[in-house]
Amino acid sequence: LKLGIMASGNGSNFDVVAQAIQDGQLNAQIQVLIYNNPSAKAAVRAANRGVEAVLLNHRNYKIREELDEKIVQTLQHYDVEWVILAGWMRLLTSVFIDAFPDKIINIHPSLLPSFKGIHAVEQALASGVKITGCTAHIACLEMDSGPILMQAAVPVLPDDTAETLHARIQIQEHRILPLAIALAASSSKSFF
Ligand code: GRF
Repeated sequence: LKLGIMASGNGSNFDVVAQAIQDGQLNAQIQVLIYNNPSAKAAVRAANRGVEAVLLNHRNYKIREELDEKIVQTLQHYDVEWVILAGWMRLLTSVFIDAFPDKIINIHPSLLPSFKGIHAVEQALASGVKITGCTAHIACLEMDSGPILMQAAVPVLPDDTAETLHARIQIQEHRILPLAIALAASSSKSFF
């Protein structure tokens, strides 16, 4: 599997995919990391692992479609088959989705379809749910929507802050993301 990973921040999910490959648990290569935020720690992690990283700063593009055009060109240049959104905090346009139909996987810190968007952990906490979790799914145009590949649940504990809850969720993200990639790639059926 030729993977392209996209990240905006810390990149811990990038790291676990790279580690799963190194450990022989996922039969894949990371062709490129694309990041949009010059200070993303994901870029440092890529350098540490010898993975090529390309900065596409969204601030340099007037409209989303222009950025997505550049993303598609870059992914194609690196011969990417599957795209992993590992904390990619930008909305996608059809320019991107249509170039990789059924081949974009997103990881999100809630049990979708609950709590879409960038404040999923805070929303779960504020809502009073006692169980939340994470979802790996095929991405489509609508944010945090599309066929679900895998989910994992975690308890919400009485003293949780967004930070402690997110940390508990991330342990599960790190477990299911490599599994979800393998599942998606090994499935002959379309998920739609
Ligand atoms: C994860 O919680 C993911 O679900 C969300 O963004 C976060 C990225 O974490 N989409 P990291 O940068 O991989 O550590």
